[in-house]
Amino acid sequence: MALWGGRFAGDASAMFKQVNDSLPFDYVMATEDIIGSIAWSKGLVRAGVLSVQEQTELEHSLCELKDAVEAGEINFAASQEEDIHSFVEAYLTDKLGDLGRKLHTGRSRNDQVATDFRLWCKRHLAGLKLDLVNLLEALLRCASRHEQAILPGYTHLQRAQPVHFAHWCLAYVEMLKRDISRIEDCVKRLNQSPLGCGALAGTTFAVDRTALASELGFDGPCLNSLDAVSDRDFVLELLFTASTGMMHLSRMSEDLIFYNSGEAGFLQLSDAVTSGSSLMPQKKNPDALELMRGKCGRVFGHLQGLLVTMKGLPLAYNKDMQEDKEGAIDAVNQYHICLCIGVEVLDGLTLNQEATRKAAQQGYANATELADYLVGKGIPFRTAHDIAGQAVVKAIHKGVALEDLEITELTQLHASIEDDVYPWLALEAVISKRDQLGGTSHKMVTQALYLEHENLDKLKASLSNDQ
Ligand code: ARG
Repeated sequence: MALWGGRFAGDASAMFKQVNDSLPFDYVMATEDIIGSIAWSKGLVRAGVLSVQEQTELEHSLCELKDAVEAGEINFAASQEEDIHSFVEAYLTDKLGDLGRKLHTGRSRNDQVATDFRLWCKRHLAGLKLDLVNLLEALLRCASRHEQAILPGYTHLQRAQPVHFAHWCLAYVEMLKRDISRIEDCVKRLNQSPLGCGALAGTTFAVDRTALASELGFDGPCLNSLDAVSDRDFVLELLFTASTGMMHLSRMSEDLIFYNSGEAGFLQLSDAVTSGSSLMPQKKNPDALELMRGKCGRVFGHLQGLLVTMKGLPLAYNKDMQEDKEGAIDAVNQYHICLCIGVEVLDGLTLNQEATRKAAQQGYANATELADYLVGKGIPFRTAHDIAGQAVVKAIHKGVALEDLEITELTQLHASIEDDVYPWLALEAVISKRDQLGGTSHKMVTQALYLEHENLDKLKASLSNDQ
């Protein structure tokens, strides 16, 4: 039965129920709604509305329902209730009669849904943080498995300068660390309790909002009732966090798809994360990576969708805001799946280290070294750049690498090029010279790996505080 019976003579139409009912998707907040209701019942004792005995009975039934929900025993699809809030209230009324009908005293579904959804977001942000830490750890494993491997680094998808493969892994570690800190940030701001703000103007009952907030694990109560019931910034921040995180996964996927291509041939993916073609027997397609890239579209769309939904809404609650859930639920789910599959991809990939090394040696990736060598001989960099460019043209015409040009051919370009140029052009030298902080030298990468392992330990320790 609808919660607003008295004012209405007729029933809602079937079509209206289709557009209006949110139980088909907001049942996922059942646990949060029950926890919030238990806290509210305690508030009503403080306000003198419920006796301790009544509160105990209510809490007992709510706990029973919570257990049943968590055991998967509740068939929400069979219910005609409008949303999870009416579902829980109907359950209590069914069990406890008039006592069940007392619980909603001084509360509105407006402060209730805002509270439930904040709690739901908080729980899922903690889950996503754990997923991110797991992926970060997989990147470190992948880097450690290939500590010596060298591959070409690219700009504009042109071979630019050689880098360690571990350096590539560590670049994504940096992105994941920012994603984790974005989650932590998001939680900081959503951690205020709307409960006790009523429909829009606050409640008349002395429920003690600060006590309610700490009962639910919030840092404190929201300070303005109008804002509290109409704010969905926390959902937008979650969606932005998920979108940015998915964008990082997409870029990582794109790199790996390219490395895995027949043209590059830098790595193989495991059978576990690839599929074949129904027609072409030779194919092994990087589907998991393509889907990590492809699912960005819908997650970004959910962020855009809610921004547009919110932009014209007058204060305070409007039913448009019910549209905040499906997108957020889907975004969290997709992001979670992609973070988990990312671990499987990284753990199962095999780098073809000979191919990556060979590619790093081709494409004149050491031309900058020739210019730097000339700078060492007192030639201005711009002139040195020009001479190195001419050397590249010469080598291209001859069909050889820079280091395969004869010394006489190099001296023709500039008299100060001598035999000591060759060690400068060797792959190992090119890499090991980049030993300033953040560079790709073996020393720097080893140091970074060490520091990231230490950081991982700290992150893991912080996970237990989030639960
Ligand atoms: N199902 C609603 C939502 O998700 C709950 C709040 C309903 N409030 C109201 N005044 N109709 O937003």
